Amino acid sequence: MTANRAESETAVGPPEDDTATHSAESTAPLGSPAIGEPLIEARDIDVYYGDTQALNGITMDIPERQVTALIGPSGCGKSTFLRSINRMNDLIDVARVEGTLRFHGKNVYDDDVDPVALRRKIGMVFQKPNPFPKSIFDNVAYGLRVQGQEDDLEEKVHTALERAAILDEVEDQLDSSGLELSGGQQQRLCIARAIATDPEVILMDEPASALDPVATSKIEDLVEDLAQEYTVVIVTHNMQQAARISDTTAVFLTGGELVEFDETSRIFENPQSQRVEDYITGKFG
Ligand SMILES: Nc1ncnc2c1ncn2[C@@H]1O[C@H](COP(=O)(O)OP(=O)(O)O)[C@@H](O)[C@H]1O
Ligand SMILES: [Mg+2]
Repeated sequence: MTANRAESETAVGPPEDDTATHSAESTAPLGSPAIGEPLIEARDIDVYYGDTQALNGITMDIPERQVTALIGPSGCGKSTFLRSINRMNDLIDVARVEGTLRFHGKNVYDDDVDPVALRRKIGMVFQKPNPFPKSIFDNVAYGLRVQGQEDDLEEKVHTALERAAILDEVEDQLDSSGLELSGGQQQRLCIARAIATDPEVILMDEPASALDPVATSKIEDLVEDLAQEYTVVIVTHNMQQAARISDTTAVFLTGGELVEFDETSRIFENPQSQRVEDYITGKFG
């Protein structure tokens, strides 16, 4: 972090050179905390719903195998940004995305990208657990079957349940319905379903906000574990949660703007923007 800071301060140049200062500030990517290789690079993402603009020029690099939290007040575009990463906004008729979003260096909005294949690499978990009305086993096996990956199906299902920290609780009832589980278990089942097909990125949109504190803390522990193997991008309206579990935090504020993106400790202890400071100290939001 210090290296990044020093570097960007040097890049600003001597104070007498006003032009250099200005251009360095306006071109320096806001979204590039100096930790980890970027796996996802968003450049100038604008999203419109009909005539209404929901995101305004989002530029950020999301580091590989870390937890990146997106925080900010309701309506500021967090879910919209999350959906622009795996092209879920394609499914909303009135939504239009402009800009570039690279995954492994390739723009996911290029004509030759298959969004269904993309979503296999970049899975998603939603706020409300949404298991299929099927057995626990069939929920997790679903994506593998769709993809015709039925070799070692049992082993893959067990591994996914284990990685989602729910295997111990359901091992003896794999044939019972996913809908019979508690809310927290259902959410971990959905996480198992999302990771069964071996994605690289897991997008989570407020995955614990419908859960009780015990279930929430299990999800939080799990998210931290998952980041050893996956790149996790998580929307949360709970700032303590972001502070606990994320490595980097992006603060979105009204107007669909990304106002600050940095290591989580800096965002919470020493934010650069007054608006961010006001938001995290609860002056508005
Ligand atoms: N499907 C949609 N159709 C039209 N407007 C939408 C849709 N989804 C979100 N919006 C609008 O886009 C803005 C950002 O919404 P959203 O991304 O859901 O914010 P957040 O997740 O931060 O609460 C809001 O003004 C919201 O009303
Ligand atoms: Mg949302």
